[in-house]
Amino acid sequence: MSLISPEVSTFDARVPAYLRRLERTTDALLPPAATDPHRLHQAIRYACEGGKHLRALMVYATGETLGVAPEQLDPAACAVELIHAYSLVHDDLPGMDNDDLRRGRPTVHKAFDEATAILVGDALQTSAFEVLANADALDAEQKVRMISCLAHASGSLGMVGGQAVDMASENLTLTVPQLESLHARKTGALILVTCQLAGIAARAPEAVRQTLERYGRSIGLAFQIQDDVLDQIADTATLGKTAGKDQAQNKSTFPSLLGLDQAQQRANALFDEARDAARSLPGDAEPLLWLADHIQQRNH
Ligand code: IPE
Ligand code: IPE
Ligand code: MG
Ligand code: MG
Ligand code: MG
Repeated sequence: MSLISPEVSTFDARVPAYLRRLERTTDALLPPAATDPHRLHQAIRYACEGGKHLRALMVYATGETLGVAPEQLDPAACAVELIHAYSLVHDDLPGMDNDDLRRGRPTVHKAFDEATAILVGDALQTSAFEVLANADALDAEQKVRMISCLAHASGSLGMVGGQAVDMASENLTLTVPQLESLHARKTGALILVTCQLAGIAARAPEAVRQTLERYGRSIGLAFQIQDDVLDQIADTATLGKTAGKDQAQNKSTFPSLLGLDQAQQRANALFDEARDAARSLPGDAEPLLWLADHIQQRNH
């Protein structure tokens, strides 16, 4: 008889099953590519392919730690990935970062056209709220709270506001606190919200919600610092997006303000902070600890 119980496997072993759940939920939600208008539906599906799906995994990992059934996490995991995919499609447009490569292939406006890319983003955004509104495994209060929370994180006080500040700050040298505030909005908000959505699914009490916020905020900022570092040190083939774009577009980044070493140290300190928060949650923190390590070690 084996001494190893299947329950003690690490989160790592469950990642493929969670990614399949995400794929099933997304596939059931989005109209088939052949649906009229088929160019739009083809582009919508194209925009959702590839990607590391770290935000969905954060929903599942947080939910696991809090003891939530996966069915109650599927809508939030899907919704946050749809908002994220929309944000990337718009981020790559010529009016924003003007990028030709995303996830190792042409950006949506390159593979299709600009008008289609704008509409893909619009449609992905509404689909995110649709999947939450239609979630059978959640009660009405949970759904409304999730919709409200995701709307706030995505909107002008969250991701969209961060993107606006990012664009307005090109050719300016920001202070470190200004850049931190920009990063917390443009990237941090959608990462933090993964923990908040799982907290709603778990009906977590206030003290737990606060600890989740500490984890989510730390990972969110660390993630964007790392994105800035990778933009500077990694190559295009590894990244699947054009390397060196931040400097070319004269953006303030953590490495541009602090230097590479200090930027990496700041990210590492934030990952430690996240692990510390995870360890003070009730429940088994292993999924969140695994995820912090996994994100910290990423090369793209
Ligand atoms: C890239 O996010 C954009 C940022 C917010 C920095 P990810 O690195 O998570 O992108 P995908 O989804 O894996 O392509
Ligand atoms: C993008 O930040 C953040 C959002 C899409 C909201 P970046 O512009 O740094 O992301 P990449 O480097 O293009 O993936
Ligand atoms: Mg950008
Ligand atoms: Mg960009
Ligand atoms: Mg970047």
